[in-house]
Amino acid sequence: MKKREELLKLRDEAKLGGGIERIASQHKKGKLTAWERIYFLMDEGSFEEIGAFVQHRSNDFGMEKQKVLGDGVVTGYGTINGRLTYVFSQDFTVFGGSLSETHAEKICKLMDLAVKTGAPIIGLNDSGGARIQEGVVSLGGYADIFYRNTLASGVIPQLSVIMGPCAGGAVYSPAITDYILMVEHSSYMFVTGPNVVKTVTHEEVSSEDLGGASVHSAKSGVAHFTAPNEIESIQQLKKLMSYVPQNCEEKVPAIAYEQAEELRIKLADIIPVNANQPYDIREVITEVADEESFFEVHKNFAENIVVGFARLAGKSIGIVANQPAFLAGVLDIRSSQKAARFVRFCDCFNIPLLVFEDVPGFLPGTDQEWNAIITNGAKLLYAFCEATVPRITVITRKAYGGAYDVMNSKHIGADMNFAWPTAEIAVMGAKGAAEIIFKREIDKADDRTAAVAAKEAEYAGMFANPYRAAERGFIDEVILPEETRIKLIKAFKMLENKVANLPRKKHGNIPL
Ligand code: HXC
Repeated sequence: MKKREELLKLRDEAKLGGGIERIASQHKKGKLTAWERIYFLMDEGSFEEIGAFVQHRSNDFGMEKQKVLGDGVVTGYGTINGRLTYVFSQDFTVFGGSLSETHAEKICKLMDLAVKTGAPIIGLNDSGGARIQEGVVSLGGYADIFYRNTLASGVIPQLSVIMGPCAGGAVYSPAITDYILMVEHSSYMFVTGPNVVKTVTHEEVSSEDLGGASVHSAKSGVAHFTAPNEIESIQQLKKLMSYVPQNCEEKVPAIAYEQAEELRIKLADIIPVNANQPYDIREVITEVADEESFFEVHKNFAENIVVGFARLAGKSIGIVANQPAFLAGVLDIRSSQKAARFVRFCDCFNIPLLVFEDVPGFLPGTDQEWNAIITNGAKLLYAFCEATVPRITVITRKAYGGAYDVMNSKHIGADMNFAWPTAEIAVMGAKGAAEIIFKREIDKADDRTAAVAAKEAEYAGMFANPYRAAERGFIDEVILPEETRIKLIKAFKMLENKVANLPRKKHGNIPL
């Protein structure tokens, strides 16, 4: 009986982490504890802990007298919406959630299980980085995790929620994972904190301004989602997971869908009469996708492109769409990076891709050229070229220049390319084109403005339509906007069993 009691006592002790006072301090900061987060994340009663009695092995700085069961991280498995999921939840009440050798071993054990059983792994991160008292063994522990993160990339979904400070090594594991979610005003990510920044660069900056949720979601693009509190962040995570299969061998999740399809008349009125007037591409997306199924990713970053998940007749798809309402939907460095990463994620996990195209081209200028729009634009091009999932494009309006090729054109492997009657598929806009190819005639004309207008109209008449491309088969069908949803449902169904193999290679060399 004594032995049974000993076990029950140890279990209770392990659940307390760094103790009642530190738990209260965690709550005072508006943060939940490691266990509370797991409670809100996993299906009720499904969580099974692994490694509750693990302790660190450090004997320096009096650490042998400060041992806490579990060593600052709760690890285990359970289900989320009935699907097997692994989770580690760092406990800030134990040495600030810092990563010791044994803390790392627990996470690595979980990652190995997740890969072996083909299920997602979630990290709830709240850590002051490497356990300073342990020195290099802690650094080694981080590297062990990074290595596994990389090997697991593209095999199982890896998701990171940042729920407190994440300093130093604590940021690089999330950075390798597929998605980062941050909680506003209580989570931070930086390689070096404000104090180090001040010493090295003499900049005075707060944690929030250096690496808060708004910085990483809008400026750096490191974070894909933000939420005002931890509970909402966990809900976002669950929603995200609902679109994603368990591993790279599985088909996308589907929910039962038996609605009779009708024309979506609202789509007919979205494109403005004036081709230079903006409109919000989200209106097109939400009209085409299943009701309330669109889930935007990276919403505040590079807003000239919209990416996100949706369902079409119940099945997950990934959407990439130029956004005419922001910078006219131009492609630039950040939008190329954002879309390329999303395309590659979808391709890893068999999520079919749908592209809405309305793009005036690549953004010109020294800023873009000096910061490598060539390399970065090529990322998106490469990502589409390499994707073997079913791929469909709908050109709603402009498809100009190199951007026509890049945005999932037929030539780079798209399976079905539709265009609306408002599509303009050309090397460039009619005015610019006329001024170049008819330069001599325009220069000779008495009325220059009238000459430009006449030549512009001539060029536009020839190319500001989808029919020259359809003539060649670069567009499979010109469709009415209101027909789009029905056409897409049928085309994706037709493509369901698509098999496309890439040439045998070790791996490609994407322009990083
Ligand atoms: C050991 C740590 C710790 C760490 C915090 N603690 N970080 N213990 N190693 N890295 C402990 C504190 O001593 C304290 O213990 C408790 O956790 C809570 O910390 P506070 O400072 O009181 O909390 P707060 O004010 O909220 O500040 C949190 C913090 C700060 C911003 C994370 O603690 C901090 O700056 N920590 C150090 C961050 C850092 O430089 N990490 C190393 C990065 S180098 P007590 O007992 O007093 O409650 C690195 C290299 C890896 O990670 C590289 C791999 C590529």
